[in-house]
Amino acid sequence: MQARGPLMVEHRLIERMLSVIIDALAKIKITHKVDPVFVDTAVDFIRFYADRTHHGKEEDILFRELDKRPLSDNDRRIMNELVEEHVVGRQATKALVDANDRYKKGDEKALIHIADHFKKLVEFYPKHIEKEDKVFFPAARAYLTEAEDQAMLAEFWEFDRKMIHEKYESVVEGLKGSR
Ligand SMILES: [Fe+2]
Ligand SMILES: [Fe+2]
Repeated sequence: MQARGPLMVEHRLIERMLSVIIDALAKIKITHKVDPVFVDTAVDFIRFYADRTHHGKEEDILFRELDKRPLSDNDRRIMNELVEEHVVGRQATKALVDANDRYKKGDEKALIHIADHFKKLVEFYPKHIEKEDKVFFPAARAYLTEAEDQAMLAEFWEFDRKMIHEKYESVVEGLKGSR
């Protein structure tokens, strides 16, 4: 398997989550309400899977390695754009959490903000994923030897191995803080 393999598999699960969110948005439109627990679960997926686990491998391993190489101006521009798009995703997720907190406290006007931030995420992610799958990942592969690509794949597995522990350490810390 090439190093980009697990990243592309992760893209497929992110796309499945996006279609769940699209269904939720349709339901919000009809019912004018949302289950805040659903929003929390979607946020957990976006934060821990899409951002920490997936963008983490992209930024902390793939982009870090590519940054050392003589990228063409165009490839470097795309890499910078991808990093900026990750930041936009984080900002939309943070705003979604804030709106959901307001909604939980009874502010019904926060519903429109929840829907807007969800919409932002479902519009932004597919374009970002397509740019990586079809443009950036194939271009990036050309800067790596087979051995370098395989070393990166091994580093990806090691990164993933730590994630389950990081996740549940954060769960315990969060529960400690909420008591
Ligand atoms: Fe990305
Ligand atoms: Fe990605």
